[in-house]
Amino acid sequence: MKRKEFSIGVSICICMCLIIGCTGKNVGQDSLSQLYKEDFIMGVAIPARDLTDQARMALVSEQFGSITCENEMKPDFLLDYDKTLEQGDEVKPAINYQYADSVLSYAMEHQMKMRGHTLVWHSQTPRWLFTVHYDKSEEAVLVDRDTMIQRMDNYIKGVMTYANTNYPGVIYAWDVVNEAINPGDGHEKGIRTKDNLWYDVIGEDYIELAFTFANQYADENQGLFYNDYGTYDKVKLFKIKDLLTALKEKNLVDGMGMQSHIQLDAPTTLDYQYAIKQYAEIGLDIHITELDVNVHEDDVQSQEKLATRYRKLMTLFKRMNEKEEANITSVTFWGLTDDRSWLNKPDEPSYPLLFDKDLNPKSAFYGAMNDDSVPLY
Ligand code: GLA
Repeated sequence: MKRKEFSIGVSICICMCLIIGCTGKNVGQDSLSQLYKEDFIMGVAIPARDLTDQARMALVSEQFGSITCENEMKPDFLLDYDKTLEQGDEVKPAINYQYADSVLSYAMEHQMKMRGHTLVWHSQTPRWLFTVHYDKSEEAVLVDRDTMIQRMDNYIKGVMTYANTNYPGVIYAWDVVNEAINPGDGHEKGIRTKDNLWYDVIGEDYIELAFTFANQYADENQGLFYNDYGTYDKVKLFKIKDLLTALKEKNLVDGMGMQSHIQLDAPTTLDYQYAIKQYAEIGLDIHITELDVNVHEDDVQSQEKLATRYRKLMTLFKRMNEKEEANITSVTFWGLTDDRSWLNKPDEPSYPLLFDKDLNPKSAFYGAMNDDSVPLY
């Protein structure tokens, strides 16, 4: 496939979609989904607001088979403060799917899959979830361990049951616990102890408890994942490996989610491969869950480097599967276009993704497509 042909193809497709108002699934021959269909499901993170943009969604459904909500399935979006107070149930916070519903129903209508991201996380989880009477004031007192365990149980139950009942078959993987290992905090098992109210209130077994509850409410074919960043850092890697080995022995975890917010030169492909092998050794499926490469320059040379980086990585993932060194079953990019990437800040621009702000494929896209026009080295 040549770049020009692809651009024309995508443009025609997007124009036609706009003219006839179609947002339907249209996996072409030259899409990531099509190219890697025997290898892994290709995914992208999107915000719910993208759904109203037909051209964006035409591109999403053409290129990808899996969606992750960038934010709408995180606790701060799903928890309903007013309703929780109204209910007045000390162990059962209220959940409101108003932001996530549109994405889940889009996925269901368009036969796309979703990753459920994320259930238990120290970040983007309101402090009131942990306080007596869900008190928001500064002097609020934290609840006791037993109350918090019940809140966790009810939260996980509420979120999973709602999604699984209303959108059966859509979610194929849940990020049950996100970012629970942070060796810098000094805990012997590497548990994140700072700024982590789950740890403060429940203690280090909050991770195992979360997986225990998630197992109770998961549908049969759903994978339960641990998800983290910097998963190739050797110290962190082995702390995560110990944690997951213990969870796997109890049959509580199915997969390792490697976020993969990476740089052009770090980690090296070798270190990345080494980390994947380590997690695979536990017998876990691997998902690359939040792939992006922070590149601050938009010049041809920097973007060619990005293209090479993506080509190398996709080649690595595919080869590792072929050689049975790992079972990588999903690869998700953290965003569709550069302008909407979380890495792209007004004072510090970044151009990390596969498509530019006008939805045109960048050289990075051709890299991810393993196109010969992109040098492998
Ligand atoms: C972490 C989280 C994601 C997202 C990114 C930044 O990786 O897992 O949900 O918040 O940070 O966008």
